[in-house]
Amino acid sequence: MAGYTHHASLRPRRLRATPTLRRMVRETVLTPDDFIYPLFVVHGQGQQRPIGSMPGQHQWSVDMLPRQAEEIASLGIPAVILFGLPAAKDAIGSENFAEDGIVQQAIRTLKDAVPELVVITDVCMCEYTDHGHCGILDERGYVVNDATLEVLQRVVRSHAEAGADIVAPSGMMDGMVATIRQALDADGAHNTAIMAYAAKFASGFYGPFREAADSPPAFGDRKQYQMDPGNGREALLEVALDVAEGADILMVKPALPYLDVLAQVHARFDRPTAAYHVSGEYAMVKAAAQNGWIDERTVALESLTAIKRAGADMIVTYFAKDAARWLKA
Ligand code: PBG
Repeated sequence: MAGYTHHASLRPRRLRATPTLRRMVRETVLTPDDFIYPLFVVHGQGQQRPIGSMPGQHQWSVDMLPRQAEEIASLGIPAVILFGLPAAKDAIGSENFAEDGIVQQAIRTLKDAVPELVVITDVCMCEYTDHGHCGILDERGYVVNDATLEVLQRVVRSHAEAGADIVAPSGMMDGMVATIRQALDADGAHNTAIMAYAAKFASGFYGPFREAADSPPAFGDRKQYQMDPGNGREALLEVALDVAEGADILMVKPALPYLDVLAQVHARFDRPTAAYHVSGEYAMVKAAAQNGWIDERTVALESLTAIKRAGADMIVTYFAKDAARWLKA
Protein backbone atom coordinates (compact mmCIF):
# COMPACT_ATOMS: atom_id res chain seq x y z
CA MET A 1 0.00 0.00 0.00
CA ALA A 2 1.19 3.53 -0.77
CA GLY A 3 3.31 5.02 1.99
CA TYR A 4 4.09 1.72 3.72
CA THR A 5 7.48 0.93 2.21
CA HIS A 6 8.72 -1.14 5.16
CA HIS A 7 5.63 -3.31 5.10
CA ALA A 8 7.53 -6.30 6.37
CA SER A 9 7.91 -4.58 9.77
CA LEU A 10 4.27 -3.55 9.98
CA ARG A 11 2.44 -6.41 11.66
CA PRO A 12 -1.20 -5.55 12.45
CA ARG A 13 -1.50 -8.84 14.37
CA ARG A 14 0.60 -7.30 17.18
CA LEU A 15 -2.43 -5.38 18.39
CA ARG A 16 -4.66 -8.44 18.25
CA ALA A 17 -2.53 -10.60 20.50
CA THR A 18 -4.62 -10.39 23.70
CA PRO A 19 -8.21 -9.51 24.63
CA THR A 20 -7.00 -6.41 26.46
CA LEU A 21 -5.06 -5.12 23.45
CA ARG A 22 -8.06 -5.78 21.25
CA ARG A 23 -10.21 -3.81 23.64
CA MET A 24 -7.76 -0.88 23.46
CA VAL A 25 -7.86 -0.63 19.68
CA ARG A 26 -11.52 -1.47 19.18
CA GLU A 27 -13.01 1.28 17.03
CA THR A 28 -16.71 0.53 17.41
CA VAL A 29 -18.24 -0.42 20.74
CA LEU A 30 -21.95 -1.16 21.11
CA THR A 31 -23.87 0.02 24.15
CA PRO A 32 -27.56 -0.32 25.04
CA ASP A 33 -27.76 3.45 24.40
CA ASP A 34 -27.59 2.61 20.70
CA PHE A 35 -30.84 0.68 20.63
CA ILE A 36 -34.52 1.39 20.06
CA TYR A 37 -36.89 -1.50 20.77
CA PRO A 38 -40.05 -2.02 18.67
CA LEU A 39 -43.29 -2.87 20.48
CA PHE A 40 -46.45 -4.19 18.82
CA VAL A 41 -49.60 -3.28 20.73
CA VAL A 42 -53.00 -5.01 20.54
CA HIS A 43 -56.40 -4.54 22.14
CA GLY A 44 -57.46 -6.83 24.97
CA GLN A 45 -56.25 -7.79 28.42
CA GLY A 46 -53.30 -9.87 29.52
CA GLN A 47 -52.20 -10.45 25.92
CA GLN A 48 -48.67 -11.62 25.12
CA ARG A 49 -49.12 -13.18 21.68
CA PRO A 50 -46.06 -14.74 20.07
CA ILE A 51 -45.33 -13.56 16.52
CA GLY A 52 -44.67 -16.70 14.49
CA SER A 53 -42.45 -15.09 11.87
CA MET A 54 -40.30 -13.39 14.53
CA PRO A 55 -39.36 -15.89 17.25
CA GLY A 56 -38.98 -14.18 20.63
CA GLN A 57 -41.18 -11.19 19.69
CA HIS A 58 -44.76 -10.64 20.87
CA GLN A 59 -47.82 -8.51 20.48
CA TRP A 60 -48.70 -6.93 23.82
CA SER A 61 -51.93 -5.55 25.26
CA VAL A 62 -51.68 -2.14 26.91
CA ASP A 63 -51.92 -3.50 30.47
CA MET A 64 -48.75 -5.52 29.85
CA LEU A 65 -46.71 -2.48 28.79
CA PRO A 66 -45.62 -1.13 32.19
CA ARG A 67 -43.66 -4.33 32.92
CA GLN A 68 -42.14 -4.23 29.45
CA ALA A 69 -41.18 -0.58 29.90
CA GLU A 70 -39.50 -1.30 33.23
CA GLU A 71 -37.55 -4.20 31.78
CA ILE A 72 -36.45 -2.21 28.72
CA ALA A 73 -35.39 0.80 30.80
CA SER A 74 -33.58 -1.37 33.34
CA LEU A 75 -31.53 -2.87 30.50
CA GLY A 76 -30.36 0.65 29.65
CA ILE A 77 -32.31 0.91 26.40
CA PRO A 78 -33.41 4.54 26.01
CA ALA A 79 -36.36 4.26 23.63
CA VAL A 80 -39.18 2.20 22.15
CA ILE A 81 -41.02 2.56 18.86
CA LEU A 82 -44.72 1.68 18.83
CA PHE A 83 -46.80 -0.12 16.22
CA GLY A 84 -50.53 -0.48 16.82
CA LEU A 85 -53.00 -3.11 15.68
CA PRO A 86 -56.45 -1.47 15.62
CA ALA A 87 -59.75 -3.11 16.63
CA ALA A 88 -61.21 -2.36 13.19
CA LYS A 89 -59.87 -1.19 9.83
CA ASP A 90 -61.45 1.14 7.27
CA ALA A 91 -60.55 3.05 4.10
CA ILE A 92 -58.80 5.93 5.90
CA GLY A 93 -57.67 4.09 9.04
CA SER A 94 -59.76 6.04 11.56
CA GLU A 95 -58.34 4.44 14.71
CA ASN A 96 -54.95 5.83 13.70
CA PHE A 97 -55.97 9.30 14.93
CA ALA A 98 -58.59 8.34 17.55
CA GLU A 99 -58.04 9.86 20.98
CA ASP A 100 -58.50 6.42 22.52
CA GLY A 101 -56.77 4.48 19.72
CA ILE A 102 -54.47 1.63 20.60
CA VAL A 103 -51.24 3.61 20.16
CA GLN A 104 -52.61 6.65 21.99
CA GLN A 105 -53.46 4.39 24.97
CA ALA A 106 -50.04 2.78 24.79
CA ILE A 107 -48.24 6.14 24.80
CA ARG A 108 -50.09 7.33 27.91
CA THR A 109 -49.50 4.04 29.72
CA LEU A 110 -45.79 3.96 28.92
CA LYS A 111 -45.20 7.61 29.86
CA ASP A 112 -47.06 7.00 33.13
CA ALA A 113 -45.08 3.87 33.94
CA VAL A 114 -41.56 5.02 33.01
CA PRO A 115 -41.55 8.75 32.16
CA GLU A 116 -37.88 8.84 31.13
CA LEU A 117 -38.30 6.13 28.50
CA VAL A 118 -38.44 7.87 25.11
CA VAL A 119 -41.60 6.94 23.22
CA ILE A 120 -41.40 7.01 19.43
CA THR A 121 -44.45 6.28 17.28
CA ASP A 122 -44.41 4.83 13.79
CA VAL A 123 -46.68 7.07 11.73
CA CYS A 124 -48.20 5.20 8.82
CA MET A 125 -51.58 4.03 7.57
CA CYS A 126 -50.95 0.44 6.50
CA GLU A 127 -51.84 -1.20 9.83
CA TYR A 128 -55.11 0.77 9.99
CA THR A 129 -56.50 0.69 6.45
CA ASP A 130 -58.68 -2.16 5.19
CA HIS A 131 -56.63 -2.24 1.95
CA GLY A 132 -53.28 -2.32 3.78
CA HIS A 133 -51.69 0.51 1.78
CA CYS A 134 -49.82 3.39 3.39
CA GLY A 135 -52.24 6.09 2.23
CA ILE A 136 -55.58 7.10 0.76
CA LEU A 137 -56.46 5.25 -2.45
CA ASP A 138 -58.15 6.69 -5.54
CA GLU A 139 -60.56 4.62 -7.63
CA ARG A 140 -57.65 3.13 -9.59
CA GLY A 141 -55.88 1.94 -6.45
CA TYR A 142 -53.20 4.66 -6.56
CA VAL A 143 -52.04 6.12 -3.23
CA VAL A 144 -52.91 9.82 -3.35
CA ASN A 145 -50.06 11.79 -1.84
CA ASP A 146 -51.56 15.00 -0.51
CA ALA A 147 -54.83 13.53 0.77
CA THR A 148 -52.67 11.10 2.72
CA LEU A 149 -50.68 13.95 4.24
CA GLU A 150 -53.86 15.43 5.71
CA VAL A 151 -54.60 12.16 7.51
CA LEU A 152 -51.01 11.92 8.76
CA GLN A 153 -51.32 15.40 10.24
CA ARG A 154 -54.27 14.20 12.31
CA VAL A 155 -52.26 11.14 13.38
CA VAL A 156 -49.21 13.05 14.63
CA ARG A 157 -51.37 15.58 16.46
CA SER A 158 -53.07 12.77 18.36
CA HIS A 159 -49.72 11.10 19.11
CA ALA A 160 -48.20 14.35 20.41
CA GLU A 161 -51.33 15.07 22.43
CA ALA A 162 -51.02 11.62 24.05
CA GLY A 163 -47.40 12.37 24.97
CA ALA A 164 -45.17 10.90 22.24
CA ASP A 165 -41.62 12.27 22.34
CA ILE A 166 -40.80 11.52 18.71
CA VAL A 167 -42.99 10.74 15.70
CA ALA A 168 -41.56 8.62 12.91
CA PRO A 169 -43.37 8.95 9.58
CA SER A 170 -42.70 5.81 7.53
CA GLY A 171 -45.04 6.06 4.54
CA MET A 172 -42.59 7.69 2.09
CA MET A 173 -45.11 10.31 0.95
CA ASP A 174 -43.58 13.44 -0.63
CA GLY A 175 -43.66 16.47 1.66
CA MET A 176 -44.44 14.28 4.66
CA VAL A 177 -41.95 15.82 7.09
CA ALA A 178 -42.86 19.45 6.30
CA THR A 179 -46.61 18.92 6.74
CA ILE A 180 -46.08 16.96 9.95
CA ARG A 181 -43.83 19.70 11.37
CA GLN A 182 -46.51 22.24 10.48
CA ALA A 183 -49.25 20.25 12.19
CA LEU A 184 -47.18 19.77 15.36
CA ASP A 185 -46.17 23.42 15.55
CA ALA A 186 -49.75 24.58 15.01
CA ASP A 187 -50.62 22.67 18.19
CA GLY A 188 -47.67 24.09 20.11
CA ALA A 189 -45.89 20.71 20.01
CA HIS A 190 -42.57 22.36 19.15
CA ASN A 191 -40.58 19.85 21.17
CA THR A 192 -42.05 16.77 19.55
CA ALA A 193 -39.21 15.57 17.32
CA ILE A 194 -39.44 13.96 13.90
CA MET A 195 -37.47 10.84 13.08
CA ALA A 196 -37.99 10.53 9.32
CA TYR A 197 -37.88 7.19 7.59
CA ALA A 198 -35.94 9.22 5.03
CA ALA A 199 -34.53 6.51 2.77
CA LYS A 200 -36.89 3.58 3.01
CA PHE A 201 -36.60 0.96 0.32
CA ALA A 202 -39.32 -1.30 -1.11
CA SER A 203 -37.82 -4.35 0.54
CA GLY A 204 -38.56 -8.04 0.78
CA PHE A 205 -36.97 -7.89 4.22
CA TYR A 206 -40.23 -6.50 5.68
CA GLY A 207 -41.94 -9.86 5.16
CA PRO A 208 -42.08 -11.05 8.80
CA PHE A 209 -43.28 -7.60 9.98
CA ARG A 210 -46.45 -7.90 7.96
CA GLU A 211 -47.54 -10.78 10.18
CA ALA A 212 -46.48 -8.88 13.30
CA ALA A 213 -48.42 -5.74 12.40
CA ASP A 214 -51.11 -7.41 10.29
CA SER A 215 -50.34 -4.94 7.51
CA PRO A 216 -49.84 -6.69 4.15
CA PRO A 217 -51.20 -4.74 1.17
CA ALA A 218 -54.46 -6.36 -0.02
CA PHE A 219 -53.25 -6.00 -3.63
CA GLY A 220 -50.05 -4.91 -5.37
CA ASP A 221 -46.93 -3.78 -3.56
CA ARG A 222 -45.42 -0.57 -2.16
CA LYS A 223 -43.14 0.27 -5.09
CA GLN A 224 -45.01 3.47 -5.99
CA TYR A 225 -43.98 5.06 -2.72
CA GLN A 226 -41.02 3.12 -1.26
CA MET A 227 -37.67 3.34 -3.03
CA ASP A 228 -36.15 1.10 -5.65
CA PRO A 229 -33.40 -1.02 -4.02
CA GLY A 230 -30.75 0.02 -6.55
CA ASN A 231 -31.10 3.75 -6.05
CA GLY A 232 -28.33 5.07 -3.80
CA ARG A 233 -28.19 8.58 -5.29
CA GLU A 234 -31.94 9.01 -5.06
CA ALA A 235 -31.68 8.03 -1.39
CA LEU A 236 -29.50 11.11 -0.84
CA LEU A 237 -32.16 13.26 -2.53
CA GLU A 238 -34.84 11.79 -0.24
CA VAL A 239 -32.68 12.53 2.79
CA ALA A 240 -31.84 16.07 1.62
CA LEU A 241 -35.56 16.81 1.22
CA ASP A 242 -36.30 15.56 4.73
CA VAL A 243 -33.46 17.68 6.14
CA ALA A 244 -34.83 20.74 4.36
CA GLU A 245 -38.32 19.96 5.66
CA GLY A 246 -37.12 19.82 9.26
CA ALA A 247 -36.39 16.20 10.12
CA ASP A 248 -34.51 15.89 13.42
CA ILE A 249 -33.28 12.32 12.88
CA LEU A 250 -32.65 10.61 9.53
CA MET A 251 -33.38 6.94 9.10
CA VAL A 252 -32.18 4.43 6.54
CA LYS A 253 -34.14 1.19 6.23
CA PRO A 254 -33.41 -1.76 6.00
CA ALA A 255 -29.93 -1.71 7.54
CA LEU A 256 -27.45 -4.40 6.46
CA PRO A 257 -28.30 -4.47 2.73
CA TYR A 258 -28.04 -0.64 2.64
CA LEU A 259 -24.88 0.09 4.66
CA ASP A 260 -23.46 2.06 1.72
CA VAL A 261 -26.45 4.42 1.87
CA LEU A 262 -26.18 4.64 5.66
CA ALA A 263 -22.47 5.54 5.46
CA GLN A 264 -23.12 8.30 2.95
CA VAL A 265 -26.06 9.74 4.88
CA HIS A 266 -23.95 9.83 8.04
CA ALA A 267 -21.03 11.48 6.24
CA ARG A 268 -23.04 14.09 4.36
CA PHE A 269 -25.74 15.28 6.73
CA ASP A 270 -25.36 16.86 10.14
CA ARG A 271 -28.30 15.21 11.87
CA PRO A 272 -28.30 12.02 13.92
CA THR A 273 -28.60 8.96 11.71
CA ALA A 274 -30.79 5.98 12.54
CA ALA A 275 -30.87 2.56 10.94
CA TYR A 276 -33.76 0.10 11.06
CA HIS A 277 -32.51 -3.47 11.37
CA VAL A 278 -35.78 -4.88 10.07
CA SER A 279 -37.89 -7.96 10.68
CA GLY A 280 -36.39 -10.03 7.85
CA GLU A 281 -32.86 -9.33 9.02
CA TYR A 282 -33.89 -10.53 12.49
CA ALA A 283 -35.83 -13.56 11.25
CA MET A 284 -32.95 -14.79 9.08
CA VAL A 285 -30.58 -14.84 12.05
CA LYS A 286 -33.18 -16.56 14.23
CA ALA A 287 -33.95 -19.22 11.62
CA ALA A 288 -30.32 -20.02 10.86
CA ALA A 289 -29.49 -20.13 14.57
CA GLN A 290 -32.41 -22.47 15.26
CA ASN A 291 -30.99 -24.80 12.64
CA GLY A 292 -27.62 -24.69 14.36
CA TRP A 293 -26.02 -23.10 11.30
CA ILE A 294 -24.80 -19.91 12.96
CA ASP A 295 -24.30 -18.66 16.48
CA GLU A 296 -27.11 -16.22 17.21
CA ARG A 297 -25.31 -14.03 19.69
CA THR A 298 -22.14 -13.69 17.60
CA VAL A 299 -24.02 -12.89 14.41
CA ALA A 300 -26.51 -10.51 16.02
CA LEU A 301 -23.80 -8.49 17.79
CA GLU A 302 -21.62 -8.51 14.65
CA SER A 303 -24.56 -7.22 12.59
CA LEU A 304 -25.31 -4.42 15.05
CA THR A 305 -21.63 -3.50 15.28
CA ALA A 306 -21.42 -3.29 11.48
CA ILE A 307 -24.50 -1.06 11.36
CA LYS A 308 -22.96 1.26 13.96
CA ARG A 309 -19.57 1.24 12.20
CA ALA A 310 -21.25 2.26 8.94
CA GLY A 311 -22.65 5.35 10.65
CA ALA A 312 -25.78 4.60 12.67
CA ASP A 313 -26.08 6.75 15.79
CA MET A 314 -29.07 4.64 16.79
CA ILE A 315 -30.44 1.28 15.69
CA VAL A 316 -34.03 0.12 15.75
CA THR A 317 -33.70 -3.61 16.38
CA TYR A 318 -35.72 -6.57 17.63
CA PHE A 319 -32.45 -7.77 19.19
CA ALA A 320 -32.33 -4.73 21.50
CA LYS A 321 -33.19 -6.56 24.74
CA ASP A 322 -31.06 -9.63 24.03
CA ALA A 323 -28.13 -7.51 22.84
CA ALA A 324 -28.32 -5.31 25.95
CA ARG A 325 -28.18 -8.47 28.08
CA TRP A 326 -25.29 -9.93 26.08
CA LEU A 327 -23.34 -6.68 26.39
CA LYS A 328 -23.73 -6.77 30.18
CA ALA A 329 -22.66 -10.37 30.52
C1 PBG B 1 -45.02 0.77 8.08
C2 PBG B 1 -43.76 0.05 8.43
C3 PBG B 1 -43.24 -1.15 7.93
C4 PBG B 1 -42.09 -1.43 8.67
C5 PBG B 1 -41.93 -0.37 9.58
N1 PBG B 1 -42.96 0.53 9.39
C6 PBG B 1 -43.78 -2.07 6.90
C7 PBG B 1 -43.70 -1.71 5.48
O1 PBG B 1 -43.29 -0.62 5.10
O2 PBG B 1 -44.13 -2.54 4.65
C8 PBG B 1 -41.22 -2.63 8.54
C9 PBG B 1 -40.39 -2.95 9.75
C10 PBG B 1 -39.78 -4.30 9.75
O3 PBG B 1 -39.81 -5.05 8.75
O4 PBG B 1 -39.23 -4.66 10.79
N2 PBG B 1 -45.12 1.23 6.80
